Amino acid sequence: MTDSQPDLYKVSILGKESIHCGFHLIPYIAHTVLTTLSSSTYVLVTDTRVAKFHLGAFQAAFDAELSSIPVEKRPRFLSHLIPPGETSKSREGKAEIEDFLLANACTRDTLILALGGGVVGDLVGFVAATFMRGVRFVQIPTTLLAMVDSSVGGKTAIDTPHGKNLLGAFWQPEYIFIDAAFLETLPLREFSNGMAEVVKTAAIWDENEFATLESRAVDITSAIQIESAKNSHAGRTVSTRSESQKLLLSVIVGSISVKAHIVTIDERETGLRNLVNFGHTIGHAIEAVLTPTMLHGECVSVGMIFEAEVARQMGVLNQVAVGRLSRCLKAYNLPISVTDSRIASLPAARQLTVDRLLDIMKVDKKNSGTVKKIVILSRIGATYEQKATAVSDQRIRNVISEAVTVIPGLPRNAPVKMATPGSKSISNRALVLAALGQGTCRLKNLLHSDDTQVMMQALIDLQGATFSWEDNGDTLVVQGGGGALAVPPNGKEIYLQNAGTAARFLTTVCTLVKSDQKGAATVITGNARMKQRPCGPLVDALRASGNPIEYRESVGSLPLSITATPAGMHGGHIRLAASISSQYVSSILLCAPYATLPVVLELVGGQVISQPYIDMTIGVMKSFGINVTRDVDASGKPLDVYRIPTGPYRNPPQFTIESDASSATYPLAIAAITGTTCTITGIGAASVQGDAGFAKQVLEPMGCKVVQTEDETTVTGPPIGQLRAIGYVDMEPMTDAFLTASVLAAVATRDSLPGRALTGAPANTTRILGIANQRVKECNRIKAMIDELAKFGVQTKELDDGLEIYGKQIEGLNHGASVDCYDDHRVAMAFSVLSTVVAGTIIEEKRCVAKTWPNWWDDLENKIGLSTEGVELHSSAGPSTSRSYEPEASVFLTGMRGAGKTFIGTLAAEALGWEFTDADAVFESKHGMLVSEFVRDNGWAAFRDAEEAVLNDLILTRRKKHIVSLGGGIVETPSAREALKKYAKAQGPVVHVVRDIDEIVQYLGTETSRPAYGEAIEDVFRRRQPWYAEVSSHEFISHTQPATPSQHPKSNGHVGGTAKVDPILPAGSGVEGEVKRYFEHITGLHPNLAPNVQPDKRSYFLSLTFPDLTPALPLLDQLTTGVDAIEVRADLLSTSGLPVTHPTVPPRAYIATQLAALRQITRLPIVFTLRTASQGGMYPDSAHSEAFDLFDLALRLGCEYIDLEVSWPEERIRELNSRKGNSQVIASWHDWSGQMKWLSSDVNQKYKLAAELGDIVKIVGTAIDLGDNIDLHLFVRSLGKAPRKPLLAINMGEQGKLSRVLNSTFSPVTHPLLPSRAAPGQLSFAEIQQALHLIGQLPKQRFYLFGTPISHSMSPTIHNTAFSALGLPHRYVLMETESVDDTVRTAIMAPDFGGASVTIPHKLAIIPLLDRLSEEAQAIGAVNTIIPRKGSDGARELWGDNTDWAAIHHMVASNLKGISPTNAKGLVIGAGGTARAALYALHRAGICAIYLFNRTQSSARILVDSFPAAYNIHVLDNLDAFPNGAPSVIVSTVPASATTTDSSVKNALLLPASMFALPQGVVIDMAYKPSVTPLLSLARTVNSAWIAVTGLSVLLEQGYRQFETWTGRRAPRTIVEKEVMAKYLL
Ligand SMILES: NC(=O)c1ccc[n+]([C@@H]2O[C@H](COP(=O)([O-])OP(=O)(O)OC[C@H]3O[C@@H](n4cnc5c(N)ncnc54)[C@H](O)[C@@H]3O)[C@@H](O)[C@H]2O)c1
Repeated sequence: MTDSQPDLYKVSILGKESIHCGFHLIPYIAHTVLTTLSSSTYVLVTDTRVAKFHLGAFQAAFDAELSSIPVEKRPRFLSHLIPPGETSKSREGKAEIEDFLLANACTRDTLILALGGGVVGDLVGFVAATFMRGVRFVQIPTTLLAMVDSSVGGKTAIDTPHGKNLLGAFWQPEYIFIDAAFLETLPLREFSNGMAEVVKTAAIWDENEFATLESRAVDITSAIQIESAKNSHAGRTVSTRSESQKLLLSVIVGSISVKAHIVTIDERETGLRNLVNFGHTIGHAIEAVLTPTMLHGECVSVGMIFEAEVARQMGVLNQVAVGRLSRCLKAYNLPISVTDSRIASLPAARQLTVDRLLDIMKVDKKNSGTVKKIVILSRIGATYEQKATAVSDQRIRNVISEAVTVIPGLPRNAPVKMATPGSKSISNRALVLAALGQGTCRLKNLLHSDDTQVMMQALIDLQGATFSWEDNGDTLVVQGGGGALAVPPNGKEIYLQNAGTAARFLTTVCTLVKSDQKGAATVITGNARMKQRPCGPLVDALRASGNPIEYRESVGSLPLSITATPAGMHGGHIRLAASISSQYVSSILLCAPYATLPVVLELVGGQVISQPYIDMTIGVMKSFGINVTRDVDASGKPLDVYRIPTGPYRNPPQFTIESDASSATYPLAIAAITGTTCTITGIGAASVQGDAGFAKQVLEPMGCKVVQTEDETTVTGPPIGQLRAIGYVDMEPMTDAFLTASVLAAVATRDSLPGRALTGAPANTTRILGIANQRVKECNRIKAMIDELAKFGVQTKELDDGLEIYGKQIEGLNHGASVDCYDDHRVAMAFSVLSTVVAGTIIEEKRCVAKTWPNWWDDLENKIGLSTEGVELHSSAGPSTSRSYEPEASVFLTGMRGAGKTFIGTLAAEALGWEFTDADAVFESKHGMLVSEFVRDNGWAAFRDAEEAVLNDLILTRRKKHIVSLGGGIVETPSAREALKKYAKAQGPVVHVVRDIDEIVQYLGTETSRPAYGEAIEDVFRRRQPWYAEVSSHEFISHTQPATPSQHPKSNGHVGGTAKVDPILPAGSGVEGEVKRYFEHITGLHPNLAPNVQPDKRSYFLSLTFPDLTPALPLLDQLTTGVDAIEVRADLLSTSGLPVTHPTVPPRAYIATQLAALRQITRLPIVFTLRTASQGGMYPDSAHSEAFDLFDLALRLGCEYIDLEVSWPEERIRELNSRKGNSQVIASWHDWSGQMKWLSSDVNQKYKLAAELGDIVKIVGTAIDLGDNIDLHLFVRSLGKAPRKPLLAINMGEQGKLSRVLNSTFSPVTHPLLPSRAAPGQLSFAEIQQALHLIGQLPKQRFYLFGTPISHSMSPTIHNTAFSALGLPHRYVLMETESVDDTVRTAIMAPDFGGASVTIPHKLAIIPLLDRLSEEAQAIGAVNTIIPRKGSDGARELWGDNTDWAAIHHMVASNLKGISPTNAKGLVIGAGGTARAALYALHRAGICAIYLFNRTQSSARILVDSFPAAYNIHVLDNLDAFPNGAPSVIVSTVPASATTTDSSVKNALLLPASMFALPQGVVIDMAYKPSVTPLLSLARTVNSAWIAVTGLSVLLEQGYRQFETWTGRRAPRTIVEKEVMAKYLL
């Protein structure tokens, strides 16, 4: 070994001194390993990041050592690099290293060196544990976490998608080399991550070590901020080691020693070793939610504070310890609460719910059974038990909940006697003075709160004093700096949170910093609220006296930059405006002794505020040896002029801080409100604190009994409900106590004491004045009290200088109020007083009490005896909390007269099976006259009033299952608009029916029944349009003109004016179809979502890329072949009809009409997308507002899916989510750059965010090569099978095609007929199916038709055409058989059996072969479709269904227009199997009287008898003599040749014209050759208003239904129909 021997600390573990610690050890490591661990091969494994910094040095050191060994004996030194990060710690990562070892012929004597952080150590350790049944290895940790934790103890592991560290082994390394110099290259955040473990170890084990950590944070951190390697490896030997290096090493060694000791006693983690899990029970649960964004140590840091609070709540740990722990962790820049901005700003933080955390904790290995265990601290350096302690869920819940509720009742411990924490004001003053003073001062009863912590930290940052603790933390020992202060190192800003006192005091303290260095300045800053609080007068005064101070942001507030001058604070005559805050005065007083010139402080600018606090400051200064004098006038009256001599403070050896008088107001108020007694010790008549007067000046006049001695105060309240209003009270001497007074005044209903009552004010008035300054405290407290009391139903009035509160009986207060505390401790504690008598009150931010009484809730429980419970607040936004109306809530329609409200409303009511109400009709029946008559007789104003009354009545009485059409003018009345808005917000949908104004004008021209407009209709339209939009939640475009007229026959499948069969439209298209879809969707009756979006199914959407969709509409049926939805790329739409060339916001109106046109043609769900330019689209990235207006439009129009890029502002996404109703959000991310790596934590984060914001997650990358698709697949697999949001994950580009084939949710597809692909590499639906087939994901299936004679059947054409159009590999073949024999049996039992049609004569005979029948097939007693399905036990079963009836039913129901089925009669001709289906179909269509005619009556009779009597079927003997009127629906099921209209034809049924006696009806002939049968032609000649449906239409319809049940895909109707027609016409 060439380099100098390092100085080492050796730590023993498991009986061996195998842990060697020092600086710059690389040569030593090489030497030690080679000389003590002989091997033929040394393999160093590290990650690429560590390699960059340190591999070279290792290589060199090994080369140097090896060069001295003869070549033939020289062992090999190999190195192997892995990617950095947790993803390497996987089965694949392990296999990869093993393959490397095997490929290099490594044998059992191999020695592996693990160089890196915990990831490398855990992974390589596990490889070593199993390679060749275990080989030796050495740990060389390079992160602090790995040094003090993961490398020590022999635990090795890898992760699986099921969780972290699930596979592993205990495998001890031969050596652990701790080289602290590695930390110099480690990012600071990683260093802090490791410090969490160091602090944890000291907290459970060693108070002295903890004291070092808490007081020396700056030094410890600075040790890693030098590059000692460049400085001839400073630190390698003790003589070259800096102080901070020594400190760092001792801290690391100390921590390792504890862990090594524990491991040695309990290697396999059975008891004692559990102690190192302090902070981990809750910390791990937090980590599970926030990983990988937050690091392990950061989560454990928060966990430690939670667990310390659990200990505190149990009464085991004091607040001092909790405070010290918090402060120490903060000093290493670790978060200590989930409200830390680093955590709170993460989207995943919203998942940190109490239930979620408790749920995760269930699987903690420390648990015994279901009981959770936590390591409970008893003090710093010791634990409650030598193992983890069982803790109830309720206790954990109470601690981690952010909100709390107090269970009303009497204090169990009454009469209560207690002390309150030390006064915040005195604590802060004493801290400043002891720090500025000379010598040592022991501060007792110091308040341990956020505020004092902030103050101490700032004094440490200014290097003004050192602090240490005695008496288990009860005493703070301050080593004063005598007034010497320095600018914080490394440009550190002093962060003061929202601590007003610290901010004001430190402003002047910072002027004491002396420096010759030009530009040296101290920056003090705070949180957002602090940055609003004033400090202007103080800054003005200091500036005027010669100290330069700059505002960094807004004038008058923090942050400030205070320049250090050679002389420090200038002093002299200082004029200060002191009407806003006494803290300005105290600030100058406290520092004045150290000014260059003696200070004369003159207070100017009106009434000085809070004199008691000024007196308090002077009093405390006196205790530290400085006497302030106050000038008096000739009469001896004190003036506002103070004289402060110069000279140092001399620290008294001990200073005891008085208990806090403001805090005392809360327990005393609880006694007052609950009628019990409470004594507060340490605060009495002699107190220097103004708030000590609260009992006498506020509680006594309210009717309490108050006894006050010099140092004790006792209050007994009157019986509950008997508090008196005070009348007037001036609270200027005790401003902070006004909140407590206000909550008592809220229930003070008895008259004020004589002489206090206010003239002219109600007897229950309490008027509090003198508190204007409370507007600029932690929050605007006056407003806060007014707003929060209002939630209880308490009335108040704001005054310039205070407020009035009008007392209310306790019984009359609202229960369940949720109090917003505005992060203000006093608001929280004041309302906790009120919540002792008002049930269900929730205090939302319970932790804000930490400012002055961190354990208030524990003291409430333990000392006062009132129970509290943690409450989980539910966030108001998020995908799960979307607007939900009551099920079946009625829908109100609004819109212009003539817009089509009645038409649409009637169709909607029919579609939903609800009742239609016309508000005009209700009005007319109520008033017994037409609307026009009412207006004529009573005028418009009276009409509007009466109309509104009807509206209110309808809202009240027609709550469910009504479609209510309102008069167009209802929006003219503001209160009616309000009523509608309210309805739309919470109760049910209000739909604006929109129609083009020109069409309305045209339509109204013919209408007369309603009052004429007195003005131009266009003007009315313009005025009302915004109102309709404002009151409605939805919008329906009433498109009366078909989008493509040629495609729109007026009915489904009927014979038109010629004998030719018209094109057949998909079921439910046109206006009726759209009304049905829209209203079923928005009411939630049948949300129109794609059924294939679910696990184990594949779904697709077609991306429409046309600038104008209308020309594509005729092709739509073909374009959408196979898909489940249509994506409308709204960013590509353009009014010009030409492709969009640069990012533009498309016009709203254009989008609306485009969507409406599309809806006329298809019922497929629409995915509404605006792709931004940066994610590959044409929408401008920054036009947020406009985008969300368009998303809003899409929701209003009932688009089923909205694609929202997760890069949109998150609050907007959440807000939209909250209103999405039955529609769903696809949260998407697109990477065009090709940079995105699927296996990176970045994608994981994007996924988590999207999963939180959307119902469906969409992540799109760009594939550079095939491997990117494999990575994508691994990423998807890593998410596991556990229930999760559907995921659309694909890669763009030619190379990405494979991912498009494999993706299962909403794969975007193109179609050969489209002008361009929406994205590179996009495939068509059929192409994907073909690819799936080729790779074995879509096996070929066989389908059959069983029956005879079937050789002319159209079914093979229908199904095979459809299969081929969809790219499916299946075949449909005829199996002509006389009987249901073995061939049939074999076919249906074959594994490739896909389904079958069954026709004459087997529809009954097939039944015994089937496992189950549908309800309909059972009722009909015949099966025409066989479907193989998975049964509930997972086994295949054969299911029999009947699609004949469904096709007949559809034709009847969709053509019965205007005829009520209940009044209609039906006629079925024939008595075979099809007649059975027809009878059933008519019954299901609601037809109440059905007649059956068959030439052989006996068979008819048998058939009728086989149906339930309730079907009301009668046998008809004579077609010409229809009893009680003629039929409206006729279905013939006999062959066409068996019927005739020619009386001369023999052996055929003569059809009489009388069958068509009714003016309209539907006639269906099931026979389809010829297309126009005698029956249909008779119908046409007798009455052309009848709708005649051909057998071919029914045949096709039932075939489509079969196809759809077999494949789960819509049949490509246009294509099939074309093919069938071609065959048919042959
Ligand atoms: N076995 C145990 O008892 C145990 C205990 C605690 C944690 N762990 C495991 O440890 C892992 C976390 O370890 P970690 O925090 O060290 O993370 P890590 O190993 O991922 O290292 C953190 C990052 O710092 C880089 N890095 C490491 N040393 C560096 C250096 N000196 N200079 C510059 N960069 C450096 C790494 O490349 C990595 O990017 C987790 O997998 C955890 O499960 C194991």
